[in-house]
Amino acid sequence: MKILGIESSCDETAAAVVEDGREVLSNIIATSLEEHKLYGGVVPEIASRRHAESISGVVKEALEKAGCVMKDINAIAVTYAPGLIGALLVGVNFAKGLALACNTPLVPVHHIRGHIASNYISSDIRPPFLCLVVSGGHSHIIAVNGYTDFEIIGKTRDDAAGEALDKAGRTMGLEYPGGVSIDRISKEGNENAFSFPKPRVSDSLYDFSFSGLKTAVINTIHNAEQKEEKINIADLAASFQKSVVDCLVTNLEKAAVDRGFNKIVIAGGVSANSKLRAEAQKLCERRKWSLYLPKLKYCGDNAAMIASQGYYEFMQGITADESLNAYATMPIDKSYKTN
Ligand code: KG4
Ligand code: ZN
Repeated sequence: MKILGIESSCDETAAAVVEDGREVLSNIIATSLEEHKLYGGVVPEIASRRHAESISGVVKEALEKAGCVMKDINAIAVTYAPGLIGALLVGVNFAKGLALACNTPLVPVHHIRGHIASNYISSDIRPPFLCLVVSGGHSHIIAVNGYTDFEIIGKTRDDAAGEALDKAGRTMGLEYPGGVSIDRISKEGNENAFSFPKPRVSDSLYDFSFSGLKTAVINTIHNAEQKEEKINIADLAASFQKSVVDCLVTNLEKAAVDRGFNKIVIAGGVSANSKLRAEAQKLCERRKWSLYLPKLKYCGDNAAMIASQGYYEFMQGITADESLNAYATMPIDKSYKTN
């Protein structure tokens, strides 16, 4: 079964064809990242305009690379939530039009479910497993009990991990996205040079809080500026990255022990982070758990992960008609109503 995936929730316009949920036949991504770098963050209006310009070419290329025409496609999977609303609408409307014109079933896919599925196109992992999802907008610990059965165990109370890295990176004067820059520059820094408070969320064992940590870094920079002291940015970046990764891995370990999981999965843009990958590896070696990480090319936003999750949703009979809408927010454990 061949699924055409379409993704446009942020600044990547992407289309892909995936067979039986696991085999990637094509994976095309156009990004407006370079334009957003000028502003230090994604400008929603620019992202929407670029999606509208690129989407038909990207879909056409994905079909061609897969050696397919529309009549070979069994269903169209599209990201409908969560994300930038104007950006999502471009993909959703394109997918609706294509589905109607070609008489092809339409499958709505939750973006974060898609990130989790990036592991299905990277290895032979199958649910149940415990997943740490870390992206620009989300930090969750999720029990993935089945392909379409999700239970939120922990989440961030304020900033997502990627958001905190991006904001801290901006204050350090690093290029957007800060998460990528911090990962790069940290390799030259001493991660024990600065110590930051370990944030605690008093009434939950598994929730995260990153805003205090982010403020601590920003204050360190401002204090140094006021005293006209020079700060080693590589040391600061490495120390901050270490603190963020410590919080993620500590809660992940607690959740896995308490819930009895021995299969651990990481997903989302921040899963590309080299420190997080290394620390998760150490944890799983120490605990004798199996660790699954997405291939680097599937960590960021792409449509192959959407097509993969779309396959499993379609198998459950989840489809939408032309009334499908896009939503800026949507809990991962809420299933789309079936037609
Ligand atoms: O999943 P994603 O592409 O988009 C969302 O769904 O949010 O995640 C983007 C986030 C950004 O915050 C970016 O800084 C972060 O992922 N990111 C990284 C790395 N690569 C991307 N953070 C740390 N280290 C990286 N290597
Ligand atoms: Zn994403």
